[in-house]
Amino acid sequence: MIRVAAVGDLHYDRHCRGRWAHEFELLNESADLFLMAGDLTQIGTAEEMEALASDLRHCSIPKVAVLGNHDLETDLQDTVTDILEKAGVVVLEGEALELDIAGEALGIAGTMGFGGGFWGASAAEFGEPEMKNFTIRTRRMTASLETALRSLQTKYRIVLMHYSPIRETLVGEPPEIFPFLGSFHFANAVDAIGANYIFHAHAHRGKEMGSTPGGIPVRNVALPVIREPYRIYSLGDEGTLV
Ligand SMILES: [Fe+2]
Ligand SMILES: [Fe+2]
Repeated sequence: MIRVAAVGDLHYDRHCRGRWAHEFELLNESADLFLMAGDLTQIGTAEEMEALASDLRHCSIPKVAVLGNHDLETDLQDTVTDILEKAGVVVLEGEALELDIAGEALGIAGTMGFGGGFWGASAAEFGEPEMKNFTIRTRRMTASLETALRSLQTKYRIVLMHYSPIRETLVGEPPEIFPFLGSFHFANAVDAIGANYIFHAHAHRGKEMGSTPGGIPVRNVALPVIREPYRIYSLGDEGTLV
């Protein structure tokens, strides 16, 4: 059994240092892996990410993150990534990581993802250049997630995203903003390749549980949804959630 702790939307600001340090330290005993699904800061400044990194140093299990849209706001993506990595966090963007956890091989494919909408109500690569660029970003990130996921030869495969791959975990958010909360292209890509489950965040008013059309479990671990600094999911021997 592998215990996976996951959260997104921590939204640290510079005054948050110490907020979850104790809870992160508890993970050393209660989990095997800590996943962070983006929006780790308010506006992606170095000071904000340093505050989080300081708390994360209390946690010594493997830590893996993707960034969220808030973490890109100040355009310091490389700086905040560097700060996280110095605190022992592997930051994925269209990349994969293989870990050995208690003798079991577990792989994580991560991307921030992007919007575009869902079945029957999605953006198309048509018309204005701005609209095309919006759609192209989704397509590019889907392709990099596919490549990362296909590269994993591990027994367990987890997908970590910020945006949602399905509509179901967004329910509770205004439907008008669904196209800015995720895209079904990610779910289609993961269904075609296979994975044990998908974690995302971003939808603060969404719901926790859903699944892709192919039946892969999806969990929205946005902090305002799970209402705790992480939730621990157990992966059984067959790779199913238990
Ligand atoms: Fe957020
Ligand atoms: Fe977000």
